[in-house]
Amino acid sequence: LDMQQFICNMPKAELHVHLEGTLEPELSFALATKNNIPLEYDTPEQLVAAYDFHDLPSFLKIYYAGMNVLQQEEDFYQLTWDYLAKAASENIVYVELFFDPQAHTCRGVSFETIITGIHKAQLDAEQKLGIRSQLIMCFLRELSAESAMEHLKLAMPYLPWLVGVGLDSNEQDNPPAKFAAVFEYARALDLKLTMHCDVNQQNTLTHIKQCLDDIQVDRIDHGVNALQDPALLASIKQKQLGLTVCPVSNRFVAQSLTSNEIRQMLEHDLLVTINSDDPAYFRAYLNDNFLALQKEGHFSAQDIVTMVKNAFNVAWLKDTEISQYL
Ligand code: ADE
Ligand code: ZN
Repeated sequence: LDMQQFICNMPKAELHVHLEGTLEPELSFALATKNNIPLEYDTPEQLVAAYDFHDLPSFLKIYYAGMNVLQQEEDFYQLTWDYLAKAASENIVYVELFFDPQAHTCRGVSFETIITGIHKAQLDAEQKLGIRSQLIMCFLRELSAESAMEHLKLAMPYLPWLVGVGLDSNEQDNPPAKFAAVFEYARALDLKLTMHCDVNQQNTLTHIKQCLDDIQVDRIDHGVNALQDPALLASIKQKQLGLTVCPVSNRFVAQSLTSNEIRQMLEHDLLVTINSDDPAYFRAYLNDNFLALQKEGHFSAQDIVTMVKNAFNVAWLKDTEISQYL
């Protein structure tokens, strides 16, 4: 069995991808020219060569610097369209997309501009490419809970365009509990809840515990360190929570593809899924994540199928919709 063919040809779902993390250097340059924004580099190749990250803060610095070129509705449309076209070409049939509105409103871009551009591209991609997608609004955890709440209120006119809310960015000293009121409010609006607990962050076991017990999330993004605590493991299993793991991202942020941990998750029957996180920065879309993982961890075709099925099963779709994919 040719594993590359097998992985590429399988219809897949992606549940953990940051829209702003799909900004390819070529589009950066095109938008910089269009919007008259100076870039520090002369070519897309030079920009990629400057992608020098080894942990979460060093990645986030480059990620936020890259976003300044996103200014107009059509820019958000193009970003979203390009990712969804790339995803469709990888046989991804369903996506849940994160976006970071606070990273744009702080630069004077309106919430309406951001979400309208994204939404129009989602509609066009579904019609023209047959790829379905839903949007998850993330809050930046180093910003205040008040700012998060303001953005949730900005989203009120667009609630039908959102499936859930998430929490991302710098985890240090920014525990889930800081946002308990915001997430409680979001739940009351019928939004699904997820939060990042990235690999090997400070106090990560406490953060995972807060996600489970205090916030009562519907999923955890990453969450790999839960393997270190039997009580957390048991709770994740009992709640049948999905874990959205991102191997190539982990290699950059934590110097490991975490293939051993992903193997352990499968052995524990956890609902582990494979995702690309920020594919334009980590230079690996979903198929490359599966391939790198399979190679390093010698995963079987059955293991791959299990992880792909897990993604559909923990997707924020109705059961009747999920069963059409399985
Ligand atoms: N924002 C974009 N990518 C992220 C990641 N991998 N972790 C936390 N915040 C992020
Ligand atoms: Zn992420």
